[in-house]
Amino acid sequence: MIRASIISTGSYVPDTVITNNDLERIVDTSDDWIVERTGIRERRIVDSSQATSDLACEAARNALKKAHLRPKDIDLIIVATCTPDMAFPSTACIVQDKLGARHAAAFDINAACSGFVYGLHLVSSLIRSEAHKRILLVGAEVLSRVTDWQDRTTCVLFGDGAGAVIVEGTREKRGIISTHIHSDGSLGDLIMLPGGGSRFSCSMETILKKLHFIKMKGNETFKVAVRTLEELATRTMEENNLDPSQLSLLIPHQANIRIIQATARRLNLTEDKVFVNIEKYGNTSAASIPIALDEAIRAGRVIAGEYILLEAFGGGLTWASALVKW
Ligand code: ACO
Repeated sequence: MIRASIISTGSYVPDTVITNNDLERIVDTSDDWIVERTGIRERRIVDSSQATSDLACEAARNALKKAHLRPKDIDLIIVATCTPDMAFPSTACIVQDKLGARHAAAFDINAACSGFVYGLHLVSSLIRSEAHKRILLVGAEVLSRVTDWQDRTTCVLFGDGAGAVIVEGTREKRGIISTHIHSDGSLGDLIMLPGGGSRFSCSMETILKKLHFIKMKGNETFKVAVRTLEELATRTMEENNLDPSQLSLLIPHQANIRIIQATARRLNLTEDKVFVNIEKYGNTSAASIPIALDEAIRAGRVIAGEYILLEAFGGGLTWASALVKW
């Protein structure tokens, strides 16, 4: 039996740091409120020359280098993003060109913050079916360009970044064991970016109404996220006949420290079994889990032969998990 195995990871965040104190000077907020309600202390944002594909390429080069692979060794590139460079060409096609990955097909997927784990679901099937041999999956976002910097309820939350993984098949008893993806479009209005598409195409009116910025009903989203993620994590373990105590690490989407702690409590996981870097980057949407995975590996917290659980929740609504035996 062939399983999909993550053979390399990479990540990239832009240099510019925006601290909570910086935000205190822009909107009516405080470092105390942000830290207490979200766990975020600072976030990274791009400079004027950078777009999502630039971040994606940095993360991808990093992953390729660690795997001693060349771009032409990749046969598929998938970029998970809700902030593409442009509507089309896809960000994945732009990345393919910039990397020089001549043998790769390329396309984007959008499941907001769940995009990377949705991508793992897809990649796992494509590798197991032997449709592709070596896939580059990137989660990359430039949320700072769709953030209303006058809206304190959202501007304190988001950041920019990218994370990448390279996935191949293995016949060993490890790799991506199971993936679980879910959606509820009826709750789509909880988090949305309404402007710029075919419903509210770009016009003076959409700009004046700020429709090209993220709108979020934070508190309602929070409650659904806690309930959904607790259930998802528990069910993923049950369906694999595993007890949460057999997990060596939970790598959750980094949206809010209180959501992460609620899931960890439900699984009875101690702090050392949960990877958290939200304080440095805020919510980087589809990039958050691959950045966290890359950092967890570099910190020596992902151990060969052990189980790790990735789980995400985001706009759509969408939620997803992946159980991996490293
Ligand atoms: N600084 C100070 N006060 C603030 C700020 C701020 N930055 N933001 C909101 N407040 C105020 C509100 O106005 C409100 O004041 P009021 O009581 O006088 O009306 C009060 O703080 C409480 O507001 P809530 O929205 O109830 O605060 P909550 O505890 O829910 O925290 C937050 C807000 C952090 C947004 C939280 O709800 C959250 O994390 N939600 C989930 C986010 C998420 O998971 N999103 C999914 C992924 S995003 C994606 O897919 C792109």
